[in-house]
Amino acid sequence: MAQHAKYVEDVATAMSIRFNNYGNAMKAAGEDVTICSFGEAYFDIPLYPFDTLPYPELYHYSDSRGLIGLRQKLASYYHTQYGVPVDAASEIVVTAGSKIAVHMAFMALLEPGDEVVVPEPAWVSYSEQVRLCHGNPIMVPRSVPLSDLGSWVTPRTRALVICSPHNPTGKVFSRDEIRQLHKVAKEHGLYLIADEAYSDFVTDDPFVSCGVDDPEKEHTIICNTMSKNYGMSGFRIGYVISNATFMSQLLKISQHLMTCPATMLEMYLERHFDDILEITKPQIRELLERRAALGRYMDEIGLRRDPGTGTFYFFVNIEDSSLGSEEFCLRLLSENKVVAVPGVGYGRSCDSFVRVGMGTESMDRAKAALRAILALIQETRRPGADPALQVTPAYMRGIEDMVVADGEAAGAEAVEAVEDYGVV
Ligand SMILES: Cc1ncc(COP(=O)(O)O)c(C=O)c1O
Repeated sequence: MAQHAKYVEDVATAMSIRFNNYGNAMKAAGEDVTICSFGEAYFDIPLYPFDTLPYPELYHYSDSRGLIGLRQKLASYYHTQYGVPVDAASEIVVTAGSKIAVHMAFMALLEPGDEVVVPEPAWVSYSEQVRLCHGNPIMVPRSVPLSDLGSWVTPRTRALVICSPHNPTGKVFSRDEIRQLHKVAKEHGLYLIADEAYSDFVTDDPFVSCGVDDPEKEHTIICNTMSKNYGMSGFRIGYVISNATFMSQLLKISQHLMTCPATMLEMYLERHFDDILEITKPQIRELLERRAALGRYMDEIGLRRDPGTGTFYFFVNIEDSSLGSEEFCLRLLSENKVVAVPGVGYGRSCDSFVRVGMGTESMDRAKAALRAILALIQETRRPGADPALQVTPAYMRGIEDMVVADGEAAGAEAVEAVEDYGVV
């Protein structure tokens, strides 16, 4: 067989996509699977007519920075909502989703062997994208406080990457924390890459864009997307914001990789930008209320998680189980038909966690999924585990509901089904 690049072989599959695929395969085979692995929320959004969009322009390439009208809307949104001035002509490039936006930022920054400091838990793609750019991701274990990040910087470091509001914990970085990060970036001449994909998914803790303390964006690169705040991941529209000099470098990469995002979808978003926001904003609020209610439910049944109030994720602590997070999630899938994402996908120091997303399931099903996680922790309890994690009356009621709902045979059937798909 002809050769492929060795370094790509060493790049890990995206853990979240891998587990989504398992869930989708079981669903396609008619199983009733509770999917808590999806990285998006399902909103109710109308479909506006496409046949009123500018014709025949929609058939053709747009400006490689993205349609100026859409850039103006995005720039003005960052200014009015988040207090970051953005020049639509020179400081923003629209991309095909923000995954490639983050990747192109790494491409524009890294020489082979350069380092990026990545605090764990870290979104699954940062480390692999840095590797794909021939750089070294310096993974900082979750026990290291933010104030110590500077000690992980070396002469090869080019950037720090953070995500706020945070996937997978829901943590929203405070103004003080962002100032600390800027200080490190400034002191060492680095860029702070701020992945702000969930910027509107906040309640109690206000969202502070990393651009606020660096309005000239001298050492800030912001990546954002329509996938989460607008609930339109299928459109694959994201964007990058930084200073004009950096953006002119990134633009060359974008021109060689994709020319421009899909013109028709840019036009659609430009035209319906405000209508869609008006429709999705209340749904984001509802989802966050549901998240808070589920957090209270977790407290009630005795399931621990990392602190956080934003996004639609929980990073659930499974350290009382003797299983690693991958095995835990495979068993959860096969025995309970619940899909969650193994914490180890977010860094080696996160193997005692699983990510549970609540963006696509009803309250009752999400609660049942949380009970199933707790049940599996109990079942696989390691000796000497925290006695605080005891069966509470609320938990017992939940288990009884589950048995009534699913029947005792359901677990065994699911194992068979999962084995059939080659999952385990
Ligand atoms: C933190 C974070 N950044 C970036 C992305 C990429 O989103 P998209 O490429 O759909 O814009 C995701 C999606 O899961 C994410 O969770």
